[in-house]
Amino acid sequence: MSLPGRGKERGGSLLSGHDAEMTRRWGFSSLQAMVNRLRGAGQEESPQEHATILPSSIPASDDTVQADLLGTPSSPLRQDPPNSGDIFYPSFGGLEKIAELLDDPERQAAVERWRNARAEFRQYGPGVVTDTQGNFLYEYPAGENLVVRNPQPNGSVVEEYVMGTSEANWSKAAVDLAFRELTKNRQGGPFGVLELGFGQGFAARRAMQQLELRGGWYDAVELNGDVYEHRAKVWEEAYNANNTEMDSIVPGGGRRPPIRIYPGDALRALVTRARKIDAGEEQPADVIILDMYPILERDRGRGTHDLDLLALAILCLDPENGMIIWYPHFEGSPGGTTPEQESMVRKYFNAAHYVDIPNRRDEFPEDEYGIKPANEYPYLFDANGNPILYLPVGYARYPKLEMLKRTA
Ligand SMILES: C[S@@+](CC[C@H](N)C(=O)[O-])C[C@H]1O[C@@H](n2cnc3c(N)ncnc32)[C@H](O)[C@@H]1O
Repeated sequence: MSLPGRGKERGGSLLSGHDAEMTRRWGFSSLQAMVNRLRGAGQEESPQEHATILPSSIPASDDTVQADLLGTPSSPLRQDPPNSGDIFYPSFGGLEKIAELLDDPERQAAVERWRNARAEFRQYGPGVVTDTQGNFLYEYPAGENLVVRNPQPNGSVVEEYVMGTSEANWSKAAVDLAFRELTKNRQGGPFGVLELGFGQGFAARRAMQQLELRGGWYDAVELNGDVYEHRAKVWEEAYNANNTEMDSIVPGGGRRPPIRIYPGDALRALVTRARKIDAGEEQPADVIILDMYPILERDRGRGTHDLDLLALAILCLDPENGMIIWYPHFEGSPGGTTPEQESMVRKYFNAAHYVDIPNRRDEFPEDEYGIKPANEYPYLFDANGNPILYLPVGYARYPKLEMLKRTA
C-alpha cells in the first residue's frame, strides 16, 4: 500500500532533526553506520488508568527527572554499571545478536513453519472458574482462542494456544498505559504505533481508539499467514474503507492515515524499517508493542524472545520519547519480571517499569481492565490449575542509543 507523504510528513523535518540530534547527543555521524551492519538482511515488510495499578517495580536507572515523569519508583534509584546486562547474560549482545538471529537456520526454519501453519479461531462458551477446592472464583463470557497447529521438525503437529479473548483487557490496559505515559510529555498527537504480532487485534483496536482522539498512525507485522489473511488484512481493509476523508479528521486537526499491516517476520520488518527511517522514508514510532509468540523451543519458559529484538527496535523508535510495551508473562513465570528480562530491558532503556493487571475484577464493569481467564485457555492457569492472579505489562522509555554506539 502506498502512503503518499506519510513517511515524509514528520520525516522531512523531524528526521533530519533526528539525525542532527543523534550526532549531538550520541556522537553518531549517522544511523546509517549501524544500519549498514545489517545490510542485505531485511527483506520483509511489504506493505484510565485504575487507581489499583501498582507502583512500578523496576527503578529508573539514570536520572530523577525521568523517574518523576514515570511516577515514583518503589525502590531507590539505581545507577547501572555500563553494559551490566552483559555481565550476567553474555549471549545478549547488540546488533551482533540481531545479525546472528537473521542468519540462524533454526530460526529461519521455525519462521517458515509458523508462517505456513494453519491457525484456528476456536470458539468457546461462557463458563465458571473455581479454585482447586471447587470454590467459585468468577464467571467468564464466551470468546475465542487463537490456536496454531504448528508442524514440528519430526513431522508431528503441536496445537499452540497463542492467545484468547480473555486476554483482551490485558492488551487494552497495555495500550492505555502507553498513551498515559506518552501524553505526559506531549499532550497532542500525532503518535505513531508499531505492533509486532497482530494476533486477534485487541491492542490494534485500542490503539485506534486512542489515535482517533489524538491523530497518528498504526502499523503492524504478522507472521502467520492465516492470522494475516483472515484477521489482520480483513480488519485493515474494513478500517481503511471507512476512513474516508471526513472520517479521518481527528479532534484538534490533522488526519488519521490508513492502517498498514504487513505479512512477515517482525525481525526482518524491523531491519527494513530502521533503514527507511534512516533514509527519511519512514517515521520512527512513539510506541512499539512487542507481542510475538515464542516460535522456537529454546525461547520457551524465559519470556525473552521479544526482548531479543531491542537493539533493532530502538532504531525504529523516536529517540527522545520512544517507548516499548511488552508482556513479561510466560508459562511457568514466577510473576512480574525476571532478572534476565529486567537486565535486557535496562540495557536499552533508561527507565523501565511494569504494572500488574489483576485477575478477577468482579467489582469493576466487564469493560474494564480485569482479566478473567477462561478454562479453555491453559496458558493463564498455573501448574496446579489455579488462574493466575496478576498479569504484568512492561513498559520502558528513553532508549539508550549509546548502547549501539558501543557495539558499532
Ligand atoms: C499474542 S499474539 C498478539 C496479540 C495482539 N497483541 C493482540 O492484542 O491481539 C502473538 C502474535 O505474534 C505472531 N508472531 C509470532 N512470531 C512472529 C514474528 N516473528 N513476526 C511477526 N509476528 C509474529 C503470532 O502469529 C501471533 O499472531
